[in-house]
Amino acid sequence: MEFESDMAHPEGAYFTRDRNGWHPKPCDPGYKTSVLRSPSRPLVALDSTLSELTGPVFGHDQLGPLDDDLTLNFARPGHTPVGPRIIVHGRVLDENGRPVPGALVEVWQANAGGRYRHRKESYLAPLDPDFGGCGRCITDEAGWYRFRTIQPGPYPWPNGPNDWRPAHIHFSLFGHGFGQRLITQMYFEGDPLIWKCPIVNTIPDRAAVERLIAPLDLRNAIPMDALAYRFDIVLRGRRSTLFENRMEGL
Ligand SMILES: [Fe+2]
Repeated sequence: MEFESDMAHPEGAYFTRDRNGWHPKPCDPGYKTSVLRSPSRPLVALDSTLSELTGPVFGHDQLGPLDDDLTLNFARPGHTPVGPRIIVHGRVLDENGRPVPGALVEVWQANAGGRYRHRKESYLAPLDPDFGGCGRCITDEAGWYRFRTIQPGPYPWPNGPNDWRPAHIHFSLFGHGFGQRLITQMYFEGDPLIWKCPIVNTIPDRAAVERLIAPLDLRNAIPMDALAYRFDIVLRGRRSTLFENRMEGL
């Protein structure tokens, strides 16, 4: 996956997007609700404000011990949620492969039956009393994040007559300023619904979709406990002039 922002270098304040044409068009008739909610006029670019760039952000001290474990953080004592137990992990990197430490990674997802714990959820699949579906963690010095969770199920949604979302996990990343929130979705290797999803199909480039698909990572599975999936998140780097005496433009 590749984002069009630059969390690693907040001083640059280059909150730009879509330099390679990968982003979906705001209006795509195949994704029905995008037609009415997309802007009909060109967007207006606003400069980032000082508070967006330098204001306080979420820190390690605000994370609870179970925030990164969705198999436990909502479960009743002595219970665990229904569904395949998995680990989702990876690194947040800039475009040069350098780690991005200190990024807040938040996830939310449906339960194993494909149902969200949300007031407006209408799918008939049952809620799991032991699964909330939300988690968060902060990348370490090498840019790593890691969650334990339950593999979410696919779910139908009212778009076309028979549209289904592939199993997915929603991701949000915060960098060093609140103007740097990036949001995406992770899919699972081998899921045939990925290529039939109208939301996925708003992405115009197949390679861009493939970067959203986490491969099975058997080497990091825990025997008799959980499978693992690897999802690296790559940010665009700083658009710096290349100085010969400062090769990395720092
Ligand atoms: Fe979803």
